[in-house]
Amino acid sequence: MVKKFKLATVVLLLKLFHALRRPAYKRILNRRFYLCPNVFDPLRTLTGKLLIKNTALIEGDIVLDLGTGSGVIAVFLAEKAGKVIATDISPAAVQCAKINADLNDRKEKIEVRQGNLFEPVKGEKFDLIVFNPPYLPGKARNLLEQAWFDENQELICKFFKQAGEFINPGGRIEIAYSNFGNIFQLEEIIGHFGFKFEITAEMRTPFEKIYLYQIIA
Ligand SMILES: C[S@@+](CC[C@H](N)C(=O)[O-])C[C@H]1O[C@@H](n2cnc3c(N)ncnc32)[C@H](O)[C@@H]1O
Repeated sequence: MVKKFKLATVVLLLKLFHALRRPAYKRILNRRFYLCPNVFDPLRTLTGKLLIKNTALIEGDIVLDLGTGSGVIAVFLAEKAGKVIATDISPAAVQCAKINADLNDRKEKIEVRQGNLFEPVKGEKFDLIVFNPPYLPGKARNLLEQAWFDENQELICKFFKQAGEFINPGGRIEIAYSNFGNIFQLEEIIGHFGFKFEITAEMRTPFEKIYLYQIIA
């Protein structure tokens, strides 16, 4: 009952934040980003920052930032990575991520592509795949809502079904996930597709607990 109330509040807040947002330049950690209206808000949400601060990136890694949104994670990882491919299903996100790669002088290191899950990187392999996925239970009614709703964990299941094909030997996957999603089912999905995981960081808000999963092939 309490969880349902918290979930309804978070969904309402997400919808309100995004509806009221105007395009603006904002600082996130120590960098400046252009935040675009129809793209997931990395300023008022915590999952992206959890990934930025804790992802185990090795100098020179070839990285896939899947579901890049405004490209914030890609920009921070590009400081040490050899190359970052940043992808998103949303054309608005792709535009926004390109602007932010440019704004942060990372155009040479970050390549932004549009498409569903691994479609834009067919045949390629990565040392690190980072995904800040949608995890709230519910049905997305438009492209923006696809940033937070994953009905019946279908997307995360498809992600793990395909991920092994795109990882170099010894490679890692890092995802942020919340107890608003079905954590037990997530861990079952990870194991079902042959991966092992460790929770390497977590954060608590008044509404939810967010975990950082490091997954090894
Ligand atoms: C929670 S947001 C994270 C955005 C960004 N990485 C961040 O941390 O601010 C999830 C992102 O995944 C994208 N997405 C949702 N479904 C997708 C799919 N099937 N393929 C690629 N990207 C998808 C959404 O458009 C959204 O930008």
